[in-house]
Amino acid sequence: MVLSQATSALVCALFALWAFKKLVDLLGSGARQAPYPPGPKPRPIIGNMLDFPTEEASRTYTEWGRQFNSPILHVESLGNHVVILNKREDADELLEQRAKLYSDRPTVPIFKLFGWEYNIALMPYGEEWRQHRRVCQQNFNPQAAKQYETIQMEKTRQLLRGLLDAPKEFEAHSKLFSIGLAMSMMYGYEVKSIDDPVIAVAEEGNILAARLIVPGGSLINIFPFLRHIPPWVPGLPSRRKAMTVRQLNDEMMRIPTDFVKKSLAEGTAVSSLVTDFYEKKYAVGASQEEEDIIRNVAYTVYGAASDTTISSSGTFFYQMVTNPEIQKKAQAELDRVVGLRRLPTLEDRGSLPYIEAIYREMLRMRPPVPLSVPHRSSEDDHYKGYLIPKGATIFPNIWAMTHDEEVYPDPFTFKPERFFDAEGNLNNDDRILAYGFGRRVCVGKYVASGSMWLMIASVLACFSIKKAQDEEGNEIEINHDYHEFGLMRYVQATLVFSQSFLTFMTRPFRIEVASSNSNVQPVFDLLPSRS
Ligand code: HEM
Repeated sequence: MVLSQATSALVCALFALWAFKKLVDLLGSGARQAPYPPGPKPRPIIGNMLDFPTEEASRTYTEWGRQFNSPILHVESLGNHVVILNKREDADELLEQRAKLYSDRPTVPIFKLFGWEYNIALMPYGEEWRQHRRVCQQNFNPQAAKQYETIQMEKTRQLLRGLLDAPKEFEAHSKLFSIGLAMSMMYGYEVKSIDDPVIAVAEEGNILAARLIVPGGSLINIFPFLRHIPPWVPGLPSRRKAMTVRQLNDEMMRIPTDFVKKSLAEGTAVSSLVTDFYEKKYAVGASQEEEDIIRNVAYTVYGAASDTTISSSGTFFYQMVTNPEIQKKAQAELDRVVGLRRLPTLEDRGSLPYIEAIYREMLRMRPPVPLSVPHRSSEDDHYKGYLIPKGATIFPNIWAMTHDEEVYPDPFTFKPERFFDAEGNLNNDDRILAYGFGRRVCVGKYVASGSMWLMIASVLACFSIKKAQDEEGNEIEINHDYHEFGLMRYVQATLVFSQSFLTFMTRPFRIEVASSNSNVQPVFDLLPSRS
């Protein structure tokens, strides 16, 4: 009975929405001269609802660009307009030059139920976002990012030690490295294993949330009023699941914050964003608003930094195993510049152009957030003869831009050489599109860049990454599939790695060099032992 009522409510609401939209279109058509950008033809009532791709969306949108012969595309469903930008020039013009109009974020009705309104990346453009962004900029600008170098070194060394001790557990080490970095920087919280409760609650929450966000995942995204239905009312399971996401989300904030307070009380606290804030608060006081902002920044960074770094390190290992000659070239550079007696540091960065090119190419080839985090237009705008309506969701298709053959010939080949000029110097293509655009560009990009670079240089300095062998000594082919999960793109191989499709071989000559000269501190002795 409840279900049939819900169904008829749904049909009525769909019809009302359609009628309302038709009316608005009719009234607006006189004033609206410009057409929307091209795209698949909408169906009656539901518009393009069935056209939205559920996976590999960035590739589908690239294909649509070819099909409709336009780098700007438009799709619409139940009055929600979506504009896709496949070319960098258009993203630059709209999201950077006209940033005032394009810095908002679309509101996804179910996000509030999740408790995601605290996430800076999802906040609407306005004063609240500005205050949070300011704190981020103070803490993650190029100069401030240097304060995290010690943590980045420490976590990288833990990664190396992990790979050395248990080379087949790639996935676990990579995860620990990525999440450990964020947790240390934000809370001084030492993540010892991937079974840590903070990781467990965050993962459970994210997986559950991702299932509710995808098209068709929850009716609440189509009919926002359903979010007011109490979770105990039967017939709307996504409402209950959203409550669970919220509880997990709250736990994710509570556990590390309690840890900071406890360690401050016990005198064992380590410096971090949240620790330093509470130290200051206990000493000289701070407002509730300031406390909320710090809590939200730390919580956002945990999410924003962890998954992107896991995704990028997956890409790195995958590209290295499939391109052994690139590894060798990078290792030759490391041997020449850093030598065999020490590990690379961020101070070596300017002297290791090939490692830099690998970093750029890795994020070009597989941007971790291929469609970026969507922006939203705050006013009607006209561009290249098209109307971009107020409230449209704007997807900069980073993947399409970094696979644009006119800019990156042979885009599906991993080729760090593309970042060198004819004289063999690094070229000036150093803007990493994977970090997004305009006023909402990734505010942690300098920190991320340091972490990723150090990881690449250090792993290649210590290991050669090779395909695993089966019992007969034959190489095991690896799975080349990538997998889009929610907003993110993960290399499927990260799952495969843990099933030992890959193994990490220590470079024999390094160990020989290290042990053959008693005056030389062996490189691996520098690595922390696993406690
Ligand atoms: C490889 C690593 C990373 C990638 C590829 C990445 C990518 C992105 C992208 C695409 C956006 C959205 C940009 C846009 O709207 O145009 C974003 C936003 C954001 N990122 Fe990152 N990110 C990474 C690491 C980090 C790290 C390490 C931090 C923090 C230290 C961080 C903090 C943030 C925050 C707070 C936002 C929201 C910005 C806003 O909406 O104003 N990210 N990131």
